[in-house]
Amino acid sequence: MPRGEERCKKSHGCDRATRTAWSLQAPISSVVATMKLSARLSALAALLAVAARVEALVSSVGLNATSGAVPSVSPSGIGASLPFNSTAASSAPVSGVSSAPASGTSTAATTTAIANSTVSVLPTASTPTPTSTADVGEISGVSYIVSGTYTIYGDPVPTNPPSVATSPTSGEPPYNSGSGTEVGWQTWSLSSYAFTSYALPSGAPQPPLFVETSPLSPPAVDNAGSSIVPDFSAAWDAAFYRAEQFVNTLTVEQKVNVSTGVFWEQGLCVGNIGQVGDWPGLCLQDSPVGVRYTDYNTVFPAGISTAATFNRTAIRIRGEQMGAEFKGKGVNVALGPMMNMGRVAQAGRNWEGFGVDPFLTGEAAYETILGMQGSGVQACAKHFVDYEQEHMRTQASAEVDDRTNHEIYVKPFARSVMAGAASVMCSYNLINDTYACENDRTLNQILKYELGFPGYIQSDWGAQMSTLSAMAGLDMSMPGDITLGSNTSYWGANLTAFVENGTIPMSRLDDMATRIMASYYFLGQDQNYPNVSFNAFNYYDTVHNKHIDVEADHYKIVREIGAQGAVLLKNTNGALPLNKPRNMVVIGSDAGNGAMGANGYTDRGGDDGILGLGWGSGTANYPYLVSPMDAIQVRARQDGTSLTNWYYDWDTEGAASAALQIDVALVFVNSDSGEGYITVDGNEGDRNNLTLWHNADNLIQAVASQNNNTIVIAHSVGPSIIDSWIENPNITGLIWAGVPGQEAGNAIADVLYGDYNPSGRLPYTIAKRLEDYGVFLILDNDGSDIISIPYTEGLFYDYRRFDQYNITPRYEFGFGLSYTTFEYYNLDVSVIPQYDWTDYWLMANWAAGETTPLTEGSSTAFWLHAPFVQVQFQLQNTGAIAGTEIPQIYVHFPEGSGEPPSLLKGFDAVYLEPGELKVVTITIPRYELSIWDVVGQGWKKPSGAFSLSVGTSSRDFRLSGYIPI
Ligand code: BGC
Repeated sequence: MPRGEERCKKSHGCDRATRTAWSLQAPISSVVATMKLSARLSALAALLAVAARVEALVSSVGLNATSGAVPSVSPSGIGASLPFNSTAASSAPVSGVSSAPASGTSTAATTTAIANSTVSVLPTASTPTPTSTADVGEISGVSYIVSGTYTIYGDPVPTNPPSVATSPTSGEPPYNSGSGTEVGWQTWSLSSYAFTSYALPSGAPQPPLFVETSPLSPPAVDNAGSSIVPDFSAAWDAAFYRAEQFVNTLTVEQKVNVSTGVFWEQGLCVGNIGQVGDWPGLCLQDSPVGVRYTDYNTVFPAGISTAATFNRTAIRIRGEQMGAEFKGKGVNVALGPMMNMGRVAQAGRNWEGFGVDPFLTGEAAYETILGMQGSGVQACAKHFVDYEQEHMRTQASAEVDDRTNHEIYVKPFARSVMAGAASVMCSYNLINDTYACENDRTLNQILKYELGFPGYIQSDWGAQMSTLSAMAGLDMSMPGDITLGSNTSYWGANLTAFVENGTIPMSRLDDMATRIMASYYFLGQDQNYPNVSFNAFNYYDTVHNKHIDVEADHYKIVREIGAQGAVLLKNTNGALPLNKPRNMVVIGSDAGNGAMGANGYTDRGGDDGILGLGWGSGTANYPYLVSPMDAIQVRARQDGTSLTNWYYDWDTEGAASAALQIDVALVFVNSDSGEGYITVDGNEGDRNNLTLWHNADNLIQAVASQNNNTIVIAHSVGPSIIDSWIENPNITGLIWAGVPGQEAGNAIADVLYGDYNPSGRLPYTIAKRLEDYGVFLILDNDGSDIISIPYTEGLFYDYRRFDQYNITPRYEFGFGLSYTTFEYYNLDVSVIPQYDWTDYWLMANWAAGETTPLTEGSSTAFWLHAPFVQVQFQLQNTGAIAGTEIPQIYVHFPEGSGEPPSLLKGFDAVYLEPGELKVVTITIPRYELSIWDVVGQGWKKPSGAFSLSVGTSSRDFRLSGYIPI
């Protein structure tokens, strides 16, 4: 299909009627795509006619956009205002409307005709129709079509591969690489459908709702929820146009080189695409907290601390500043954000992500990506998908059902696609017995088709398992070699051979290279982008290490988020904020500087002194690390406080006597975890248990036995079990301080001393007992190669489980105290008038409880994510000091919908002076009021009554009401 036509399809460059027509064409698209141009034009005319009729129909039901008199939608949703039932409407064939007038003008005559004939414009088509049993290599425009079953190698590749002669539909491809020990065969079914390089957004741009913009100028933060949905399709168009032009000039080998990394440690960055022609290639570099393996970079608060702010503005700014640092160092692709879902409380990498809730994680990922890409670096949303523990991470199969996957694990990636993420990283694990980077279901069908992801999929480092992963949707092999340093590749020469013998169609290779190049142009990286100025693998390389300082004043947001993400869990007897104590003791090694310095352990793989990060590839080198004691000493001098300290965690007697007859005893403790390639204190990435480290429970109890004003501060990668001491009345305070990055000490001092009135909220539940979580690590290797991780809990883990089974948590998801008090009044819940005529029928069918049709990009379609329900209430600061409250909206789905009792669907961070009252408005899109229909493969509003609560946590509801849909 010519590009111009393709662009028109992508919702701009065409008038609204054309766009309307295209938005209605999904089930017809494959037919249209195979027609000659003349035939396509007449099909288009027919569709335009349909569009005209839709407009007419809209007019007939009193919703004419041009009249300016748009009535508000009835309480039962837009579908309820229709004069006929939508089931009947959807049964009439589209073909019967081709004689309708081709103009967009509504007339009374057409209105009547349409209303009477109950024209269908929206068949409830679902699954993409298999195109044929076409041979591999069949090409349809920029789409590719594959079908058949292939037998591929498992992991690792065989030493002397016998052959792939079992492949039923192609000849034996040459196979000339591989060293390994084990032959593992997998039989693969490949999809049979065509899809384009990027999705067709539905909905006409309707500023200010759908802003057509570039990723370099993202829409402003909207703390109320998604009342702005950016439309990046024009920017993608322009980028794809240029990418195609570039890729057209390349040889097969060059296209392969765009897709295959130059191998581990063979470039300056952790991942590198080599130079191709005049194009300089790409530098891919960790991590989600800052630029890894460099200097003069900032270490931002980890994802888990950032999420605990529940503050979109802070999250966006962090993203922007981090993005600027990556760009400043010459990194093209920043390997973050990370958004695995904290399914298992002990999982080692949970701290890299944004907690256990898909809505919170999705919003945090969305803002992070908009921020990062706004600064010009490509973001990489990782790890796709169901990578929820470190043990056996390359040999563990997540056995997860489609609904759970859609409603929890895939969701943040949908928001990432909406934020314009250039890249997605597939994970190490298997999903339902197929490796994540070979997984046609998750990569092609879900990510590229259903979410309409236009960018490229890169493998996690060594997570690629075969050459044919290309057919499952993988676009880039990272770092390019089979195992790190093996000097062999599934791609490189193998990919060239597979393309040349027709096993992998050239169109697929073109698509891979085009997606990669388009992402590069999408971010404007061809315009004066800085060169890489460091060598990630050799700090002493004086040629490449330019030591460019990219830190600017980013420490400020680090400190702010550190404070905003600190969660005040207990505060009795007015213990906090500190008020110029006469004397004070600081206890616990977490309060001080580590003996080996901030960067003493490679990738922070040790726990000594203040814990600012977990360990692994998700870290960066600190420029400095402020310990709590560093910061507290400054205040002590100002306040005239006499200050002592005790860092011997195991000498509890010494600690107790240090706390004797002292006004305030601050006890700093921590709990660490990280990525599985490093073991710390016997913890192989995942935590062995949920107890605090370094004898913390005994230390706290010893101090509390002597001091009735003991305040505990925990720097923790996630929840820990604290029940042995939390109810001790001598323990008057507890702050859960997360892993806040380089300004750890300043941030916690700000909270302790009341310079920041705490507003952090738990992004996970703290249970009373480890067993209460109900979902655990699977450690066992019973000798089989692949272990199974059954996600039998479905939607019910963390707070969703505690609520469902009435398990009382120690502190629930969303909980956090303040130094002031807030009151909530006057809840009003209404349906927002809808102006999107383009998607009228989609909305109407949704309102009628029908499943949304599965089309390319249907899960990220604008209408599904546009504001639909408005929640309004008043919030007042009823205390004596200024502070920020985090109102949270929890939706209660109808009985029988299979959903947990309460689901977070909205939040805001509202600053209020003492006595101040504000009206807070939060919007909820249809997407967040839908469940995934596995049979229909679409989103659907379950039948029955919806209600919601506004509260300060997932259990402390202050206002409640019905949702009139
Ligand atoms: C991690 C990724 C990381 C990559 C490159 C892998 O081990 O899982 O998150 O981006 O290494 O360092």
